[in-house]
Amino acid sequence: MDLTTHYMGLELTHPIVASASPLSKDIIGMQRLENAGAAAIVMYSLFEEQIQQEATALENLMTAGADSFAESLSYFPDPDQYHSGTDQYLELIHRARKQLHIPIIASLNGISNTGWVDHARLMQDAGAHAIELNVYYLPTDSSLSGQMMEQRYIDTVRAVKSVVRIPVALKISPYFSSVGHMAHQLDEAGADALVLFNRFYQPDFDIDRLMLQTDLQLSEAHEIRLPLLWLAVLHGRLNASLGATTGVQTAVEVVKYLLAGADVVMTTSSLLRNDPEHLGVLRDGLVEWMRDKQYESVSEMRGAMSQQRVANPELLDRANYIRTISGYDGNT
Ligand SMILES: Cc1cc2nc3c(=O)[nH]c(=O)nc-3n(C[C@H](O)[C@H](O)[C@H](O)COP(=O)(O)O)c2cc1C
Repeated sequence: MDLTTHYMGLELTHPIVASASPLSKDIIGMQRLENAGAAAIVMYSLFEEQIQQEATALENLMTAGADSFAESLSYFPDPDQYHSGTDQYLELIHRARKQLHIPIIASLNGISNTGWVDHARLMQDAGAHAIELNVYYLPTDSSLSGQMMEQRYIDTVRAVKSVVRIPVALKISPYFSSVGHMAHQLDEAGADALVLFNRFYQPDFDIDRLMLQTDLQLSEAHEIRLPLLWLAVLHGRLNASLGATTGVQTAVEVVKYLLAGADVVMTTSSLLRNDPEHLGVLRDGLVEWMRDKQYESVSEMRGAMSQQRVANPELLDRANYIRTISGYDGNT
């Protein structure tokens, strides 16, 4: 059985990748992920200094009553515990390249043009096989239009692509007016992969202490549906590779994401909830399903349920909405 896949030019032995998380915060964690069978590792994000300032601005905004923030806010630097500064990050890339055999994808969360460009170049020079840009701009200034925000994403891709030779992936949110159009624009701007989707975090209220709670909830399997939909719609329509992230708990989600058209399927919550060795469970489950359905390769099954290939593509759009709500039978 052939599990190999290509992801933005990287050849991977199978499609299951460890996404950015504290599991890659040191070389021991990264080795454990490799030994457990990760096909590639996306390292935890290096956050640009300026984001710290943005976090402060956002904190002010939170106390002013805003209602939704990127999950990425919750992993803003707690320097002692998690993020460790540019030099240590680059040193970790360097060590990982020397000691590991799988592709290492560095992750960058920048804010300024120079921040993106300088850090991306440093990551490349340290030996990263590729870079994932975790792009999140919060339009706190309400004079910023949607179009201006979108342009920032495009400019970021262009700026980074103009200074590095290695592939560049973009981990994006689903909150664009037209996700498909945006994906095409990012593709045209040169993104080598799109990772769908950045998981968003909504703060909760502690009504005893009258404080905002910023705890991070791990994902659940039902959360795959939004990325699944867009992967199915975008498969076969872009030059960029497609990465799936959010909601993978078992091999079922891995299979679904591949059928939708993902080139790789990423997971963090399942590894934090179980342990990195859960990667083997996911891989074995995929193999078992493929054997059962008589698929001989991942490339054969990829996109088999994408919008272009599924027998009833209308179920992916508005018709499904109408059918779903009118078909509710009160049982769930
Ligand atoms: C504790 C924790 C830390 C994370 N750190 C990062 C990070 O540094 N950069 C990033 O892009 N995503 C980060 N993520 C998001 C994950 O990479 C992933 O996209 C998200 O958890 C959804 O995938 P999952 O459902 O498999 O968990 C983090 C997630 C968790 C739970």
